Amino acid sequence: MKILSIQSAVAFGHVGNSAAVFPLQRIGVEVLPVYTVNFSNHTGYGAWRGPMIDPSDVSEVIAGIEDRGVFPQIDVILSGYQGGEGIGDVIIDAVARVKAANPNALYACDPVMGNAKSGCFVAPAIPVLLRERVVPVADIITPNQFELGFLTDTEPDTIESTLASADLARAMGPGTILVTSVERPDAEADTIEMMVVTDAGAWVVQTPLLPMKANGSGDVTAALFTAHFARSGDASAALARTASSVFDLLAKTLESGERELQLVESQEFYAEPRMQFTARQVR
Ligand SMILES: Nc1ncnc2c1ncn2[C@@H]1O[C@H](COP(=O)(O)OP(=O)(O)OP(=O)(O)O)[C@@H](O)[C@H]1O
Ligand SMILES: [Mg+2]
Repeated sequence: MKILSIQSAVAFGHVGNSAAVFPLQRIGVEVLPVYTVNFSNHTGYGAWRGPMIDPSDVSEVIAGIEDRGVFPQIDVILSGYQGGEGIGDVIIDAVARVKAANPNALYACDPVMGNAKSGCFVAPAIPVLLRERVVPVADIITPNQFELGFLTDTEPDTIESTLASADLARAMGPGTILVTSVERPDAEADTIEMMVVTDAGAWVVQTPLLPMKANGSGDVTAALFTAHFARSGDASAALARTASSVFDLLAKTLESGERELQLVESQEFYAEPRMQFTARQVR
């Protein structure tokens, strides 16, 4: 399987492609990383150095891959955080060209906009771009519960309302919605859930809630889910495997006392999670 992954890169730490590429490689995916920024570290530190990559340069790199004749072999295009508006057009164009070369290719979009704690942390143009142009051409989207609400103008906070919001998102285009960090007042204490909704049904997986917040967890989650789902077509199995691997990674990170994801130390867990959480069907 080949995944064209258009995301940011950081030298220190693990977000964007610097979070997604290694776990994908560990489960046997050939990744073609295309970088949208080349920063020293993620912006959560408040300071960072290094360039944003001009959308025309990102486009050039993708065109160069096309020149090699590789597009017919691309199974999935994956995109994450979009620093500026220009990248959206480059991604939409890449999706159209890959799909022209391989009609079975899937586009998985992580519509990064914010989270329940921080609110929306992207430029005001980004949600508009995602809602109006990017999400409609996606096959899979992987919002957290806050982003799902933002996309659909709803405030999902129960299983039922999260399903309803996911259905609104599906009506926008993508057939498969993975909702991360599902929180609801009636959940067991100290748990966190993830939900997947497809044509075939909807499933939820629950794990313990760890006392931490590590940047990049969503990027690893989107990458692993997309690869497992694209391979098997089995959303519930992909959900369970992804949640299990991500839980192991976060538990290892918490144990380490480090702020950054312990992505390399957790290398065994992507193919073979220690924990085996199972998904329960909710529709
Ligand atoms: N504190 C935690 N305890 C247990 N699991 C967690 C925790 N934080 C994240 N996860 C797991 O990781 C998944 C993805 O994380 P999250 O929803 O925070 O991504 P995100 O909002 O995109 O964050 P980011 O963009 O910073 O990576 C969650 O659905 C959950 O399964
Ligand atoms: Mg995210």
